[in-house]
Amino acid sequence: ATVAVLFGGRSSEHSISSVTAGGVLRALDRERFRVIPVGITRDGVFVLEEDAPDKFALDAAHLPEVSDNGTRVLWPEGGADRVLRVRRADGTVDTLGSLDVVLPILHGVHGEDGTVQGFLDTLGIPYAGGGVLDSALCMDKHFMKIVLQASGVTVAPWVTITRDSWAADPDAAREAARRLGVPNFVKPSRAGSSVGVSKVHDWDEFDAAVELALAEDDKALVETAIVGREIEVAVLETPGAAPARASLPGEIVLTTREFYDFEGKYLGGDGAEVVCPAVLTDDEIAALQAAAIRAFDAVGGRGLARVDFFLTPSGIYVNELNTMPGFTPISMFPKCWIASGMTYAELISDLLDTALA
Ligand code: DAL
Ligand code: MG
Repeated sequence: ATVAVLFGGRSSEHSISSVTAGGVLRALDRERFRVIPVGITRDGVFVLEEDAPDKFALDAAHLPEVSDNGTRVLWPEGGADRVLRVRRADGTVDTLGSLDVVLPILHGVHGEDGTVQGFLDTLGIPYAGGGVLDSALCMDKHFMKIVLQASGVTVAPWVTITRDSWAADPDAAREAARRLGVPNFVKPSRAGSSVGVSKVHDWDEFDAAVELALAEDDKALVETAIVGREIEVAVLETPGAAPARASLPGEIVLTTREFYDFEGKYLGGDGAEVVCPAVLTDDEIAALQAAAIRAFDAVGGRGLARVDFFLTPSGIYVNELNTMPGFTPISMFPKCWIASGMTYAELISDLLDTALA
């Protein structure tokens, strides 16, 4: 089958998507899949990228980027046409192949949020991963939490501050947030990889945290910091068959780091460790796996998701779902499946087979 791997994009997680692409390009089963790597620059230009996993390796000193190499990927015209073409820098147009499936490994807005999914639906091209609704819902933490809560899933208490309400009446916003206490987390509603997230210990840190989050999105969330273990479960649909499977849980173990921020995730910052499988009782594992599937179903999940939890003495909280979780070599999603007995290559094949089924 011919697969276009789509990565980069107009998102603050552009580089992380590119690192994910490096891992996926390396792992894809080349006997089964013919690969067309399509990069999206930070400006939203679709270029034909090199099929070069090493170019997109995780290098903390220099995170990879898709740059404009002068090529333009031309999408099929729709209908029966599924032929992907490229216009070279010299103006000549070449056929790249007829697409069977797209693997959009985009993180964040304009990719993990249903927009690219809707574009592909409109063209009638199958793609791996979440659909329009679950992607859009999980990209926006405000609406995701409302839907989870309405489905009986426990989430951390929160308030939402819009840019307009912050400008009009910051005192009202501060007062609403105060009821949540400290410490709390302030985050953009639509972002990922902890971009724009702050942990607020004292109220004199609060305004700066809100401003930082509102620089990323026009809505900020303030959430009570839940005291508990940070556990994550990977969910994957089975090709051609319901229901989705849940992996063994992994854990983010913080030693000296305050939370698993961007530096701890991708820039080699120490003080946080990814442990998989997490040390848990069989009952805890079963409860977390059931909760992961429940959360996945609550948002109309499709293809895959990583469900992030807080495990506390008083129960399980869902922090969030990520519909295109990081697939970098250090990421939790592949680690959870590898710990559950799959290989990275099987994982990617399953994702594509589900889309093709
Ligand atoms: N948003 C990042 C890539 C994750 O969820 O892993
Ligand atoms: Mg996230």
